Amino acid sequence: MRVIKVGTSEEMGAVAAQIIAERMRAKPHFVLGLATGGTPETTYAELARLHAEAALDFSTTITFNLDEYVALPIEHPESYRSFMNTRLFDKVNINKANTHVPDGNAEDVDAHCLEYELWIEDVGGIDLQVLGIGHNGHIGFAEPGSSLASRTSKVKLTQGTREANARFFENDINKVPTHAISMGIGTILEAETLLMLAGKGKADAIAAALEGPVTAKCPASALQLHPDVICVLCEGAGDKLTLEYQP
Ligand code: F6R
Repeated sequence: MRVIKVGTSEEMGAVAAQIIAERMRAKPHFVLGLATGGTPETTYAELARLHAEAALDFSTTITFNLDEYVALPIEHPESYRSFMNTRLFDKVNINKANTHVPDGNAEDVDAHCLEYELWIEDVGGIDLQVLGIGHNGHIGFAEPGSSLASRTSKVKLTQGTREANARFFENDINKVPTHAISMGIGTILEAETLLMLAGKGKADAIAAALEGPVTAKCPASALQLHPDVICVLCEGAGDKLTLEYQP
């Protein structure tokens, strides 16, 4: 487990984007797992800048997002497909056919979840998965109580997660979808490298994830089972860690 502590969210974005860019440059047809939410925004801004100013090429990159809200129209500005288009995909030379976000409006959700897993398998798995963390330790939308072996499925969002995400829905929790499709913890653990990003307000969740017991009560604690994890922490997110880590 590597832990890189930086000051600001912009510094976190610069470090994370550098790690991703190096790997993308080393491997054509790179398979990049993506997260949404507030935390990775600076990373995506920096990747877009590296594309514009340092010729970072996305033409053969394949992406898979962790999750998507159920029953939110795809064109809604807060759908994760819209988020990815505006923050990254529309700013780089990626082939949109190579970008995958779960379909929260799929008619047969179970069949779609299975299909999503097969798409990942068909391209040889995810090379690097970007992760954020919920205050309750969720990764993707695998909420506390999810099996550590869980696969992509429809999940119910906790009240706390909906409260945290109400800021994206005019601060009205009633507008936050109740369910999502999310990769499972088992799916996430199969990525070659996990890149965890965390900032303000996440110190307790990061301490529980990295130094607490491995338990379904804190889905991110499953990172302790993975051989290649890099955490980039800003704004005090690493302040409650007590062990020594290599940067
Ligand atoms: C969303 C996702 C979630 C978020 C988490 C933190 O794709 O994977 O696990 O990373 O809810 O969200 P922010 O970054 O908004 O605090």
